[in-house]
Amino acid sequence: MKKVKLNNGTEMPIVGLGTWLSAPEDVYNAVLTALKNGYRHIDTAMIYRNEEAIGKAIKDSGVKREEIFVTTKLWNTDQGYEQALKAFDVSLKKLGLDYVDLYLIHWFKGYKKAVESYRALESIYKSGKAKAIGVSNYNIHHLMNIINNCEIPPMVNQVETHVTLQNHFLHEYCLENNIQLEAYAPLMSSRIKELLKNEVMLKIAEKYNKTVPQIAIRWLVERNIVVIPKSVTPSRIISNYDVFDFSLDEEDMKEIRKINTGRKIFVEFDNVDY
Ligand SMILES: NC(=O)c1ccc[n+]([C@@H]2O[C@H](COP(=O)([O-])OP(=O)(O)OC[C@H]3O[C@@H](n4cnc5c(N)ncnc54)[C@H](OP(=O)(O)O)[C@@H]3O)[C@@H](O)[C@H]2O)c1
Repeated sequence: MKKVKLNNGTEMPIVGLGTWLSAPEDVYNAVLTALKNGYRHIDTAMIYRNEEAIGKAIKDSGVKREEIFVTTKLWNTDQGYEQALKAFDVSLKKLGLDYVDLYLIHWFKGYKKAVESYRALESIYKSGKAKAIGVSNYNIHHLMNIINNCEIPPMVNQVETHVTLQNHFLHEYCLENNIQLEAYAPLMSSRIKELLKNEVMLKIAEKYNKTVPQIAIRWLVERNIVVIPKSVTPSRIISNYDVFDFSLDEEDMKEIRKINTGRKIFVEFDNVDY
């Protein structure tokens, strides 16, 4: 299993299981299937309302806690220093864990709130209850606000990234600042049908005798971007992880680069105040 090293030395498996919209009754089995088939990284969030089921599946899996990388996130209504500390404890309790591997601020909520919330994450990190901290849905200027005003640089930035929203400049900034980029919606989420019929992707999938989702995931692995495809379907959970026995060549990477449109599926965080 390939891992990336975060700027504090913590190792993070490059492929994990996404769980947004995975209902508690489905996510329990999804996590068990994932852990049984090699995954060691689960992504959740307070707002997904499935932390309890995920915690239970982790316990029941028989896989050692220290082998699994668990991420959860601070929701918008809990932003601010004191609120964030409280929300973190609630997440930890729901997960039934002593610590998480990564705690992220879920969305940008204004420059002041961002700093207040991030300072709470810093103190959680110092307490050892989160092995790494970071942000999600942050553009370069949001990251700069944290870097300029906080003590511990973010370790991860989780943003929408897929073959039609490739984020090359954000990735470059993250690399320069030792921030690990993490791709959500790697299969284009609700618009997965567009990905499945993309001709460039179909051609490359045929070349390697792989599926289009496997090519989309492998393309992120080639870029050293952490990727968290979501599925509650056992066969898909298994095939989405089966991406370590081939690699894309330079020509494939060039072809995929050409299908970038820069168009987002999710809302632009600078324009929405949840
Ligand atoms: N930080 C944030 O704000 C944020 C926002 C969005 C997502 N995320 C995280 O990123 C994860 C991934 O993003 P996402 O869930 O939006 O979208 P995604 O992983 O791009 O796509 C998930 C969709 O693809 C389907 N699917 C999965 N594997 C497939 C395969 N091999 N063949 C055909 N269909 C397949 C799933 O269906 P089935 O489940 O029915 O199999 C589901 O409908 C989330 O679950 C969440 O953990 C974070």
